[in-house]
Amino acid sequence: MTEKPKYYITTPIYYPSAKLHIGHTYCTTIADSMARFKRLDGYDVFFLCGSDEHGQKIQRKAEEEGVTPIAYVDKIVAGFQRLWKELNISNDDFIRTTEERHKKVVQALFQRAYDNGDIYKGKYEGWYCTPDETFWPENKLTPDHICPDCGRKLERISEEAYFFKMSKYADRWLKYVEENPGFIQPVSRRNEMIQFVKGGLEDLCVSRTSFNWGIPVPFDTKHVVYVWFDALVNYLTAAGILDNPEKFRRFWPADVHLVGKEIVRFHSIIWPIMLMSLGIELPKMVYGHGWLIVDGEKMSKSRGNVIDPIPLLQEFGSDAIRYYLLNDVQLGQDGNFSRERLINRINSDLSNDLGNLLYRTLSMVEKYRNGTVVSKGDASGEPAAAEASDMLEKAAADTLQSYRNSMNGWKINEALKGVWTFVRSMNKYIDVTMPWVLAKSQDKAPVLDAVLYHLCEGLRITALMAEPFIPIAAEKIWNQLGLRGFAEAALKDGVWGGLPEGTQTDKGDPIFPRIEPEDENDENQDHTQPAETPAEEKAPLISIDEFMKTDLRIAEILTAEKVRKSKKLICMTVSLGDEVRTVVSGIAQYYEPEQLIGKHVIFVSNLKPAKLMGIESQGMILAASKDGKLQVPFVDMPAGSHVK
Ligand code: ME8
Repeated sequence: MTEKPKYYITTPIYYPSAKLHIGHTYCTTIADSMARFKRLDGYDVFFLCGSDEHGQKIQRKAEEEGVTPIAYVDKIVAGFQRLWKELNISNDDFIRTTEERHKKVVQALFQRAYDNGDIYKGKYEGWYCTPDETFWPENKLTPDHICPDCGRKLERISEEAYFFKMSKYADRWLKYVEENPGFIQPVSRRNEMIQFVKGGLEDLCVSRTSFNWGIPVPFDTKHVVYVWFDALVNYLTAAGILDNPEKFRRFWPADVHLVGKEIVRFHSIIWPIMLMSLGIELPKMVYGHGWLIVDGEKMSKSRGNVIDPIPLLQEFGSDAIRYYLLNDVQLGQDGNFSRERLINRINSDLSNDLGNLLYRTLSMVEKYRNGTVVSKGDASGEPAAAEASDMLEKAAADTLQSYRNSMNGWKINEALKGVWTFVRSMNKYIDVTMPWVLAKSQDKAPVLDAVLYHLCEGLRITALMAEPFIPIAAEKIWNQLGLRGFAEAALKDGVWGGLPEGTQTDKGDPIFPRIEPEDENDENQDHTQPAETPAEEKAPLISIDEFMKTDLRIAEILTAEKVRKSKKLICMTVSLGDEVRTVVSGIAQYYEPEQLIGKHVIFVSNLKPAKLMGIESQGMILAASKDGKLQVPFVDMPAGSHVK
């Protein structure tokens, strides 16, 4: 058996200095779509996300809030993890730099660079940007001492420090980058980096003494390791450099570090030089994407223009947000975020082009063939339909091929646009073949069969190609077509003719409802709390078998927050031990979200999901209520326990 090829992809590890905004969501969505594509294309993927938790900035934030740094980061990082879950991010690991596994690696590698003679003690006199955690030498600054990257005021620092001999490696770096033209992408960033290094590399300050929230330098513990040295090493820790050599051999070097353009310098200059010093192979590629901007400016808390992804996800769902980000912004360039365009894309591309195509197709299969894709049929009895069918088959093969090429060439939005061109060609195919006319004459039955087969088969291939972008909808398409095992489906199954004859379709609700103005009454459809049975009315008797159908489990409430624009609803993520669910519950008038976090409750785990204020609730928390009072019973059993 030939082994699957491997693919190791990373996002930057984000600072838990504030909540994540839609710009961070952008980077992770791109990486996720690439990871999903590679899995679909037969690779053994390791996709890493994480959080960068040390440094002066975090220590100050914690002090401002009057909590310990670890308490501060724990809370924010839980929010990151929840966001990635809501966005359907398929990361295989989430590394926190405060984890023991990471500290050990950073200390070992710092020691190794020191033993190699590449780290020496000195004194740092100069300027520092704390929000960016970046040192700036005087010769790169204007007299007002403003950070050249972010425009914020720099701080003067003067302290004993260890330095890393960057300058020693400048020539080796230049040679490497020349010999490996694909190492820094896109090309514009590569040229920028070459200019930077040609302008002269200074040794890098790699330790601090004026605060202590960091990993101690192993041989001089009053110093903590500079947060960027610490952070970059995360890619090695997670690949198992110390604790899992077999995994490390398999996955290192990383295939791509996907990063925002302002941190390409750290990833493509400092990081490779660190690796050269440590004698570790270099990653194959650093890809610098552009920013999501609002009215021409980068999103940032200090500018007050951040867009919180959580309400958007709750309002529109993760597939729609993912689709918008991947479609609207050209990778490598900056793109403007626009709510109006987001809604337009949902209504035109998702709801109209794709959602309606599926709904129309399955309605016709239902109406004309009792829901069965009877056979591949034969369109030759109708020349126009025969020609259109051949073209559709060819378009499917061509689209799949260009989709693969575009994805492999990091042209994600081209790949996505190609899939939608194919979707639109299927809509045109319906107009040309006019199945409703074919249905009127018995002798056109084989042609109608062929048309219905072509539509379903085209949709099957579309579902495969769309999975990296809109995974939830792709699976729904697959299931509504009557297919099973989407998790195991692969791109190689996208060959025309894979849909078995006789498949029984299963039309459901439209997969992308059009966006209508918000309905204030939405929250009244609270499916998560059963109506109280009036005292005078006895509940009907049920058998033990009926009762046993209800899967009651203990759930631990991980996060809780009020649902925007709702007086009654609280949205929670709960752990059932081996999985995490989102649940919306009508208990906001009785509990503050903070009171619920960490509590263990009784949870109905096999309730059909229901949407409340646009959020899918995947279960129900049990509560007792009488005479306008309500109480959620809290219990003291581990998450996942069965309630019998
Ligand atoms: O830089 N549009 O973390 P960070 C697109 N901890 N991307 C954006 C963006 C926007 N508006 N705003 C931020 C750090 N980003 C370090 C990384 S990795 C070893 C250490 C991107 O939380 C930004 O470009 O400040 C960067 O790639 C990422 O978010 C993390 O930013």
